[in-house]
Amino acid sequence: MFAQLLLPAFAVLSIATAQSTGCSQATATINSQADATALASCTTFAGSILLPSTAAGVISIDGPQQIGGDFIVDNATTLTSLSSSSIASISGIFHLDSLTVLSTLSFTDLTEVGSIEWSALPVLQQLTFPSFIKKAKDVLITNTFLSSLDGINLDTVETLNINNNGRLTSFSTQVANITGLLNIEANGKSLDVEFPNLETAANMTFRNCSSISIPSLKTVNGSLGFYGNYITSLAAPNLTTLGSTTEANTGSFALVANGMLTNISFPQLSSIAGAFQIANNTGLYNISFPDVSQVGGAIDFAGNFSTPDLTGLKVVSGGFNMQSTSVIDCDSFDKLNGNVIQGVYDCVSATADAKSGLSGSSTTSGSSAKATTSKAAAVSFGINEAVAGFSVFGGLLQMIL
Ligand SMILES: *[C@@H]1O[C@H](CO)[C@@H](O)[C@H](O)[C@H]1NC(C)=O
Ligand SMILES: *[C@@H]1O[C@H](CO)[C@@H](O)[C@H](O)[C@H]1NC(C)=O
Ligand SMILES: *[C@@H]1O[C@H](CO)[C@@H](O)[C@H](O)[C@H]1NC(C)=O
Ligand SMILES: *[C@@H]1O[C@H](CO)[C@@H](O)[C@H](O)[C@H]1NC(C)=O
Ligand SMILES: *[C@@H]1O[C@H](CO)[C@@H](O)[C@H](O)[C@H]1NC(C)=O
Ligand SMILES: *[C@@H]1O[C@H](CO)[C@@H](O)[C@H](O)[C@H]1NC(C)=O
Ligand SMILES: *[C@@H]1O[C@H](CO)[C@@H](O)[C@H](O)[C@H]1NC(C)=O
Ligand SMILES: *[C@@H]1O[C@H](CO)[C@@H](O)[C@H](O)[C@H]1NC(C)=O
Ligand SMILES: *[C@@H]1O[C@H](CO)[C@@H](O)[C@H](O)[C@H]1NC(C)=O
Ligand SMILES: *[C@@H]1O[C@H](CO)[C@@H](O)[C@H](O)[C@H]1NC(C)=O
Repeated sequence: MFAQLLLPAFAVLSIATAQSTGCSQATATINSQADATALASCTTFAGSILLPSTAAGVISIDGPQQIGGDFIVDNATTLTSLSSSSIASISGIFHLDSLTVLSTLSFTDLTEVGSIEWSALPVLQQLTFPSFIKKAKDVLITNTFLSSLDGINLDTVETLNINNNGRLTSFSTQVANITGLLNIEANGKSLDVEFPNLETAANMTFRNCSSISIPSLKTVNGSLGFYGNYITSLAAPNLTTLGSTTEANTGSFALVANGMLTNISFPQLSSIAGAFQIANNTGLYNISFPDVSQVGGAIDFAGNFSTPDLTGLKVVSGGFNMQSTSVIDCDSFDKLNGNVIQGVYDCVSATADAKSGLSGSSTTSGSSAKATTSKAAAVSFGINEAVAGFSVFGGLLQMIL
């Protein structure tokens, strides 16, 4: 009798407690639709939401508009659908990892997240984000089955890393300013990348893209690298400077192994704080950088090209390595050696084996002005193991002297 009276009272108390702490608990663990429904009355959920590996089936979290913490879904290998018709912002990390059967991701009101970390989503083909995510600090999207990132259109972002999404065919975002790293690599073979409004960026690396559009880019406060792309042309009509204005020698330009590239246009580029490398672009014959006047690192060009137009050069603080399989006018560069060009100099015309500074300069035929042994050249072009490692990691090459 006593127990029967007490039990309902205890039950009521426990529900009341659950409701009052429900919206302010540090972490809500959601395994099922019932757990999700328990949050329906929380307009703001201050803590983090966690869907553990046991979360299964179809889960829709409707009611909360703001999530103060993270939204984490890990290893939920039987979760097929995740949605919310109410969540507009997630202050922390929106983390989705190893969701092997997730085929629906629908957040109809979401516009702001602290950061996006999505990886290993092997069957997710599309996003249903009709309000568009416009604000995110850091974005990492890797190893997904997404063919488009429609639904993400950022106004502001610090770092953007999109890699190994094998089906991705287009990515376009309106962002004007990327303050940290931009890395796009190893996605679908026909990925068209567009940054129609991007004006300033820090470090940018593009690999394996089939087209790259950066019409508004004005300055890069770091390095800019294009490696192994399938692009046929590349233009940065408004780009003027590469590299930090506060740190010497940071900010290199690399155009390497873009085998289909025939036409490049950088008509306003005038200064490069670090190294300037063009190599292994087998179809690139015409190289023209008429406005480049200052290069803080080395110039290192190797390929099949005819005489590059570098008529604006005033200062090259590092070395100079120019080697082409075609006949080039080394005389015009010889004149710059020792005055404009301050480091080790080498220019080789019509060589069967045009080598970039990375492989060291071994031949001193042609009109090399200074005899350089391969060891001396490799050292004096500033290439060493540490730098090579850095170059692989950061996608850039730092050649100083
Ligand atoms: C997810 O599963 C992988 C492999 O089974 C494991 O290494 C990892 O720690 C798991 N992650 C979490 C957050 O449970
Ligand atoms: C880009 O971001 C930097 C650093 O946050 C800021 O100083 C600059 O004003 C921004 N530029 C634009 C065009 O938004
Ligand atoms: C560019 O990346 C390098 C290496 O990761 C880093 O040292 C440098 O500070 C970055 N520059 C900017 C402007 O982010
Ligand atoms: C290039 O710069 C000019 C002058 O600043 C500007 O008028 C033009 O709109 C820019 N082009 C693009 C595509 O942003
Ligand atoms: C992607 O580009 C890198 C060079 O940065 C190259 O080594 C790699 O083979 C390319 N991958 C594909 C699939 O083409
Ligand atoms: C450019 O990069 C340097 C260091 O790499 C940093 O100190 C400076 O604040 C950056 N400038 C802008 C405008 O981001
Ligand atoms: C090369 O690119 C520039 C700028 O994008 C363009 O004006 C020009 O027509 C192109 N030339 C060829 C031969 O494709
Ligand atoms: C150019 O290609 C050759 C041969 O594949 C390679 O040894 C060399 O390292 C490449 N150079 C650069 C700068 O990637
Ligand atoms: C090489 O490029 C320059 C500038 O982009 C252009 O004026 C010139 O016509 C091109 N020459 C050839 C042979 O394509
Ligand atoms: C020159 O072109 C040929 C034929 O396309 C290519 O095999 C070779 O690697 C190119 N050489 C350089 C240094 O780019």
